[in-house]
Order: sequence, then structure tokens, then C-alpha cells
Amino acid sequence: MQFFIDTANLDQIQEAKELGILDGVTTNPSLMAKEGITGTDNVLNHYKKICDITTGDVSAEVISTDFAGMVEEGKRLSEIADNIVVKVPMIKEGIKAIRWFTDNGISTNCTLVFSAGQAILAAKAGATYLSPFIGRIDDITWDGMTLIKDIAEIYAIQGYMTNILAASVRSPLHIVQAAKNGADVVTCPLSAITGLLNHPLTDIGLAKFLADHKKANS
Ligand code: G3P
Repeated sequence: MQFFIDTANLDQIQEAKELGILDGVTTNPSLMAKEGITGTDNVLNHYKKICDITTGDVSAEVISTDFAGMVEEGKRLSEIADNIVVKVPMIKEGIKAIRWFTDNGISTNCTLVFSAGQAILAAKAGATYLSPFIGRIDDITWDGMTLIKDIAEIYAIQGYMTNILAASVRSPLHIVQAAKNGADVVTCPLSAITGLLNHPLTDIGLAKFLADHKKANS
């Protein structure tokens, strides 16, 4: 399973890269706004900065909701760097746009996915990645991981090539469950990834090793 980081924060992207586990980056308009990145030129420049840090795939989301607008925006975004993936919402015009991008050799990430039916449609349109929003499904007391499992089963049976990118992933447990249920990629904040490090027995064991070493060498 690949690890993408879900942020537009350059320091965090750099930190994940230095940790040696960074396979790519996902962003969305909310994450760009959180970093105070506004205006078309600034947004495009910011994507360029992200692509300068990582050679992994970088999802850049369109704002338009009509086919022509999405295609225009997507073309501009894809010109920034070879590793840009155009992120398109799961709406009717979005499916048309994903088909157009697929036919024109531009990678896509179909976002805001909440059902297996939507996942089938995105795969039929040729999406490179599919983003089911796990945390937001959990938020309404449904089970986000069951959706990942169902999509993984359907894609395997049907031979769909679209990569399942578990999104809205917020905790280390989500990462483990996504891996177990067949996600190809997980995208999450850096804190969820570093949370995987934690185990009290590791801390206790290390303290004991160091104490024993100190005693033996004093
Ligand atoms: O990758 C999608 C993600 O940014 C949404 O996460 O936590 O806002 O549901 P969240």
C-alpha cells in the first residue's frame, strides 16, 4: 500500500519525504485555503512547489463543476509537472471529464466517493485513482472500511485498474484497516502516519536496553 500525505503544507510534505515513506500528495480546496493559498497564480505556483519536493503523484483539484471548465482547468494543472493528477468530483460532469482526461493521457483522481456504485462508475470512466472518504462515512456512524472492502472486491472481480485511494483517513487505526481491506493507497495527515510508530512496549524495551548497556559499561 502506498502512503500519500493529505496536505498542502510544504514543511509537512518535506518531513514525510525525509521520513522515507512518501509516495505522493493529495490536496483539496479546503487544504489549500488552510495554507492561505488564494488566487489562480498562487495556487498553480504552490502546486509547482509541491511537485518540486516529490516525484510521487500530486492530486490537484479542479474548482469548476461543468465539463468544459474542468477540462480547461485540468489541462492547466497537468502542464505544471508530469506527476500532477487532476482531482475531479464524483458528479455527472466529472465523470464526463474523467473520460476526457483518460482518453487524453491525463491521470485523474475521482474524489468525494461514498458508495460502491460511484466507484464502479469512476472505474468505467477510467479514473486512475478513486477516493472514498472513510472518515466522513464514519462521522455519520456508517462504516467507511466496509466500503473499501466492497470496492476492493468489486474491482478484483471486474478487473478494474483504478487504484483505491482511501481518503479522509484520520488515525493510525484507519491506516491499518485500509491496508487490511484492500486499499492500494492511503492518504492522511502526517500525524496519522507517525502515530503508527507508537507502542508502549517499544518504549519500555528501548529504555531497558539502554539502561542495561549503561550499567554494563559504567
Ligand atoms: O482526502 C480527503 C480529505 O482531505 C478529507 O478529509 O478529514 O476533511 O474528511 P476530512
